[in-house]
Amino acid sequence: MIPKETVNQIIETARIDEVVGDWVNLKKRGANMLGLCPFHNEKSPSFTVSPAKGIYKCFGCGEAGGAVNFVMAHEQYSYPEALKYLANKYNIEIEEEEQSPEQVLEANAKESLFIVSDFAATYFHEQLLSSENGRAIGLSYFKERGFREETIEKFKLGYSHDEWTNLTDAALAKGYNLEFLNKTGLTIVKEEKKFDRFKGRVMFPIQNISGRVIGFGGRTLSADKKVAKYLNSPESDIYHKSRVLYGLNLAKKSIISQDRCFLVEGYTDVISLHQNGVENVVSSSGTSLTADQIRLIKRYTQNITILFDGDTAGIKAAFRGIDMILEEGLNVRVLAFAEGEDPDSFAKNHSTAEITESLDKESFDFIRFKTNLLLKETGDDPIKRAGLIKEIVGSIALIPDPIARSVYLQECSNLMDIGEQALLSELNKVRRNKLTKRIQQQERDQERDEGPPPDFFHEVGNTEGEEKSAKIDVLAEQESDIIRTFVQYGSIEIEIPTDTETEGDSESIQASVAEYLVFEIEKDELHFNNPVFRKIYHLFKDAVENETQVEERHLVTNTDNEISSFTIECLMEKYTLSLNWEEKHKILTLTEDLILPKKIHKGICSWRLNRVEQLIGEKQQQLKRKDVDYDLILADIMKLTEAKRKLAHELGRIILH
Ligand code: CTP
Ligand code: MN
Repeated sequence: MIPKETVNQIIETARIDEVVGDWVNLKKRGANMLGLCPFHNEKSPSFTVSPAKGIYKCFGCGEAGGAVNFVMAHEQYSYPEALKYLANKYNIEIEEEEQSPEQVLEANAKESLFIVSDFAATYFHEQLLSSENGRAIGLSYFKERGFREETIEKFKLGYSHDEWTNLTDAALAKGYNLEFLNKTGLTIVKEEKKFDRFKGRVMFPIQNISGRVIGFGGRTLSADKKVAKYLNSPESDIYHKSRVLYGLNLAKKSIISQDRCFLVEGYTDVISLHQNGVENVVSSSGTSLTADQIRLIKRYTQNITILFDGDTAGIKAAFRGIDMILEEGLNVRVLAFAEGEDPDSFAKNHSTAEITESLDKESFDFIRFKTNLLLKETGDDPIKRAGLIKEIVGSIALIPDPIARSVYLQECSNLMDIGEQALLSELNKVRRNKLTKRIQQQERDQERDEGPPPDFFHEVGNTEGEEKSAKIDVLAEQESDIIRTFVQYGSIEIEIPTDTETEGDSESIQASVAEYLVFEIEKDELHFNNPVFRKIYHLFKDAVENETQVEERHLVTNTDNEISSFTIECLMEKYTLSLNWEEKHKILTLTEDLILPKKIHKGICSWRLNRVEQLIGEKQQQLKRKDVDYDLILADIMKLTEAKRKLAHELGRIILH
C-alpha cells in the first residue's frame, strides 16, 4: 500500500505536459498543448493537454483524465503501478506500508489469472489462424458466418482443438501453473484427470473495460441438440459475469460519441453489427441483464436501445430489461426484429446505412413499444385494456426522476387516449404501495438490527398528505439535485449553448458549472426552500461574484455541521459511483463531463417548470379575490402558460430522445 500522503504528493508533483510528453509530441497552442492522440489513429491532432488544469482530453476518441489516468491507459498499468511509475519519474520515495502476506498473495494470484487467460486467448487465436484443423474447422466456420479477417482479429476469435488436453498441455509446457488454469476454468481438474473445458469449440474471449481477457464463451460446432450451444467460463476472481458486458471495451468510444448504447443478446450479434459499421453495441452474454451491467453503460450514456428477437422469450427478456433500465434512471428504446431474425442476421443482410436507419426509425420509446405490442392482444376489451394501463404505469412508476415520469405519463395519456389525472392517480397508487413495501422492509431490517429507524414515523406521515407532499418532495429533490451539482462539479468548465430553443447549430459559451447555475438561478429569482441548501448556495454565489472558487476542503470541514455533512455525502457519492478502482480512475472523469451539460440543463429546466407551475397556481388564487386587476393577472397567466409549454417541450426533447 502506498501511503495517502505520498499519493497526494505524487499527484501534486506530476505535470501533465511532462508526463504525456514522454510519449506524445506536444505543440503549444494558446493555453493548451496539442498532439496526435496515442489512443486512436489520427492524421490531424485532436489530443489536447491543459497544463493549467492538469488534464488531457482527446476530442477525437474521447479519452480523458489526469496524469495518473494517462499512464494507466497508455501503459495498461493498474493504479498503484501508475503511481509507482510517476514516483520514479519525479524521484519521490515511496515508503510502502507493509502489505500483509495475504494481500501480496491475493494480488499475485489475480495477476496470474489474467496472465493465463491472455495466454489462452492468444493460443486459441493462433490455432485458429495457423493450425491445420483450426483453419479447416474453426476458420471456415467463421468465414461461413461471414466474419471477415479483420473482424476475427478485432475480437481475437479462436479455436480450441477437439482433443482432451490440447490447451492444458500447451500451457503446462510453457510453464503455466495448473492451479490457475483450473481457477479460470480453462482446465477442468477431477482427481487425477484433467481436460480442456472448451474442447472442440470456436472461442470468443471476453474482455474487461481495459481490454484484458477475463473469460471465454465457446460455441460448439456440432449440430447435436444435446450439446450446449455455448459454454462460458465459470466465475473466477477476475470474471464476475454480472459485472461484465461483452464488447464494452471496443464499444465505449462509440457509445460516447453516439450518446447511445445498443444492447443485444449474443456474441455474434455484437460482432456482426461491428463488422457492419455499428460499434456502440454490447451484450450481456452468459447471464440475463443485471443492474450492475446497466450501471456500466450509464457511465457513458443515458440512452439504451434494446434489440432482440421478436419471439416470446425475446419479448419477455425485453420487458424485464426495460423495467431494469428505467429503474436505473436511463432512457430506453426498443426494437423488435421479426420472428426468426436477430441483429446478427439482420446486420448481415443490410448495408450500414440501412442498419443505422432501421435502428433509428424502427425503435420506439418503451411506452409506444409496450402499447403497440399489448394493444394487439387487448383490442377493445375494457378489462384487458385496464390491465394494459396498469402494466405501463407500473413501468413509469419505476423511473426515479419525477419530471421524466410526468413526461412519460403525458405520452401514455396521448397514446391510450386516457385522461392524465386518471393515470396519475394510478401511478401514485403504485408508488405508494412501493413506498409502503420499502418501509415495511426497512422496518424488518431495522428490527433485526436494532429497533425502529429514527425517521420511520416521518416517512409514514408523508404517505398520507399525498398531493401536497408529493409536490414538496419533487421540489426538495430538485433543490437537492442542484446543490449536489454545485458541490460535485462546481468548478468544472462546460460549454453552454447560448440559445436552447432554436434547433440546429447555435453558439456556445464557456463557463464553470457554478457560474452557469448562479446565473440561471438569479435570472429567474429561484430560491431554495431548504435552509441548508440556501446556505450552501450562498457560498457558491459569493464565490462566483468574487470570481473565486469554493474549495472542497472548505465545505467538508465547514464549522456548520449541516453543511459539512451534506457535502461529504455528495462527495462520497461522486467518488463511489463506480465499481472498482481500476475502472473508477480511468473512466469517471471523462464521461461525467460529457454527460454533465445535459444533466445540468435538465435540472434547471425541471426546477424552472416547477416554479412556473407554482406561480400559475398563485395567480389563479389571486383571481378569486375581488380587489385585483383581472386583465393583468390573466395576461400574466397566459405568459406563464406559454413559458410552461416551452419548458415542457424542451424537457420532453431532453428526456424522450
Ligand atoms: N447462451 C449461453 N448458453 C447457451 C445458449 C446461449 O450462454 N447454451 C448465450 C450466449 O452468450 C449467446 C446468447 O446467449 O450468444 C444468445 O443465444 P442465442 O441467440 O442462442 O445464440 P446466438 O448468439 O444467436 O448464436 P448463434 O448465432 O451462434 O447461434
Ligand atoms: Mn444468432
